[in-house]
Amino acid sequence: MKNKLILTAKEALENAYVPYSNFKVGAALLTKSGKVYSGCNIENSSFSLACCAERTAIFKAISEGEIELISMAVIADTEGPVSPCGACRQVMTEFFTSDAQIYLSDLQGNIMETTVKDLLPYSFSLQENKN
Ligand code: THU
Repeated sequence: MKNKLILTAKEALENAYVPYSNFKVGAALLTKSGKVYSGCNIENSSFSLACCAERTAIFKAISEGEIELISMAVIADTEGPVSPCGACRQVMTEFFTSDAQIYLSDLQGNIMETTVKDLLPYSFSLQENKN
C-alpha cells in the first residue's frame, strides 16, 4: 500500500494549481474502508487562501463520509522527503490515529516513514479519547 499511495500522490501532484509558488505537492491517503483519496495544492490570487495537498485529500475523504483514515503519502519536488506544514500536521492529528503511518517522499524516491505523533508531538486536541 505504501507504494500505491506514493504513486497516487505523484499523479495528484500533476494537478497542482500553483501559478504563484510553482511548488507542486501531491498527497494520497488510505481509508479504513479501503478507498484511496488523493489531493494536490490549490493556490489563489489571494495568497492566504491556498489549500495544501494534504488538506485537500483529507477534506475530500471526510466529505465523502470516510471518517477513519489509516495512512497517507505526501510528495513534492524537494531535496529529500517533503516536510508537511504545521497546519496540515494539526489537521492530520484530527483525523488519523497518532501512530498512523505517513510516507514523505521526493521525486527521486527518497522516502521517510513517520507517524502523526512524531510529526506533531504534544498536539492540541479536544477529543479526550484521541490516542
Ligand atoms: N504546500 C503543501 O501543499 N503542503 C505542505 O505541507 C507545504 C506547503 C503548498 C502550499 C503552497 O501551495 C505551496 O506548497 C508553497 O507553500
